[in-house]
Amino acid sequence: MKIAVIGTGYVGLVTGTCFSESGNYVTCIDIDETKVRRLQAGEVPIYEPGLEEMVKRNTKAGRLTFTTSYADVIPDSKCIFIAVGTPMTADGSANLDSIWKVAESLAPLLAEDAVVIIKSTVPVGTNRKLAEMLKSLTGREVDVASNPEFLKEGAAIDDFSKPDRVVVGVSRPEVSDVLHELYKPFLRTEHPFLSMELESAEMTKYVANCMLATKISFINEMANLCERVGADINQVRRGIGHDQRIGFSFLFPGVGYGGSCFPKDVSALISVAHDREMEPSILNAVDQVNTAQKRVLFDKINRYFEGDLAGKTVAIWGLAFKPKTDDIREAPALVLIDLLLEAGVSNIKVHDPVAMENVKAEYGDKLSYFDHHYDTLDGADVLVIVTEWNEFRHADFDYIRHKLTQPVIFDGRNLYEPSKLKAKGIKYFGIGLSSEKNLD
Ligand code: UDX
Repeated sequence: MKIAVIGTGYVGLVTGTCFSESGNYVTCIDIDETKVRRLQAGEVPIYEPGLEEMVKRNTKAGRLTFTTSYADVIPDSKCIFIAVGTPMTADGSANLDSIWKVAESLAPLLAEDAVVIIKSTVPVGTNRKLAEMLKSLTGREVDVASNPEFLKEGAAIDDFSKPDRVVVGVSRPEVSDVLHELYKPFLRTEHPFLSMELESAEMTKYVANCMLATKISFINEMANLCERVGADINQVRRGIGHDQRIGFSFLFPGVGYGGSCFPKDVSALISVAHDREMEPSILNAVDQVNTAQKRVLFDKINRYFEGDLAGKTVAIWGLAFKPKTDDIREAPALVLIDLLLEAGVSNIKVHDPVAMENVKAEYGDKLSYFDHHYDTLDGADVLVIVTEWNEFRHADFDYIRHKLTQPVIFDGRNLYEPSKLKAKGIKYFGIGLSSEKNLD
């Protein structure tokens, strides 16, 4: 099948590449000429395990191409996926300007039987609006479908190729058949293709992300409460997770969720509710708890130094919003860094395996950057762990204690065993640990 994918961000690039891997002819369109040129040369602008090799392989096989020209591609395309950004506006709603611009560019070029599919996360009603817009621009009915994407950064190829489910919203069953054909290579009995109304598909994406964000804010609130009553969230987590109705996944306490999806989608759904004159109490709380959670590490450090952080040196391991990505959008590490700078910390020594360049672009010489995590420790008063990269999981605690002026670790991801650190003479602050109560 001939496919066009508009927008070469995370979702667009992974979608286009994976569809070409399953034998389709895919052209990815982007208005950013530099990006297109880099992609044509096999250079992938984002860090995503396995993606660059897959792009190169399919480009070489002639199944994957990149262009800035709609006119060269759209007239021959049966399926056109829109995967452009829908960023958060100041009032929390999704900004759909890019979608409408794409629709205007597409309309005069569409083939009779083309299907236009929105993959970007869009508020309920957007697909119908797109159908109306295309009808008024072309003078005929154009098939539109909603096909939300559930991939996670760092595991994007696997998530796309082995999806838990594929969700498709359509206004007539024939459109769903076209998409079913396209997704067949990725489906298995237990991982179904779910066809539904346009509005239900649009809502599914938001409800999924908001449910996951709710789990995280819930466990973070419980972790904070555990600390105060002398309970251990890790034990509590095990205690509840064996109840199959609850389960274990997505219930790891930490420093709050970040990234390009959860914060944006929670705000967008709140805004959708407000538009319908409804106050979404749970979503509001999820967002508030998360904003507060991003401060938790700073508050612990500040308390430890009794409010006197001026002139201190802090080592930070991990800057990306989660491991296996260089993405620092809404990353808790940035909130921590801003608060430390505001409090007068004189030296912030940072390391991240892949996100350092992005942080450098934002903070420049306000921070000191190190290629190895142990090198951040020289002259540092305390160590703070923000992202749970695998390379931090096993640490040389004797070396850390020897290097730090104060033998203290603040761990936003509960990577270590508190009793082990205690035995090594290191004070250890995690999230929701029973040991925390005595340390405050
Ligand atoms: C998320 C969804 O998982 C994905 O389905 C959707 O398509 C896009 O949004 P992503 O943002 O890439 O994906 O990251 P994810 O792995 O879900 O993590 C999101 C955030 O939640 C991270 O900041 C992570 O640290 C945090 N998190 C996750 C926790 O704090 N605790 C957990 O138990 C799980």
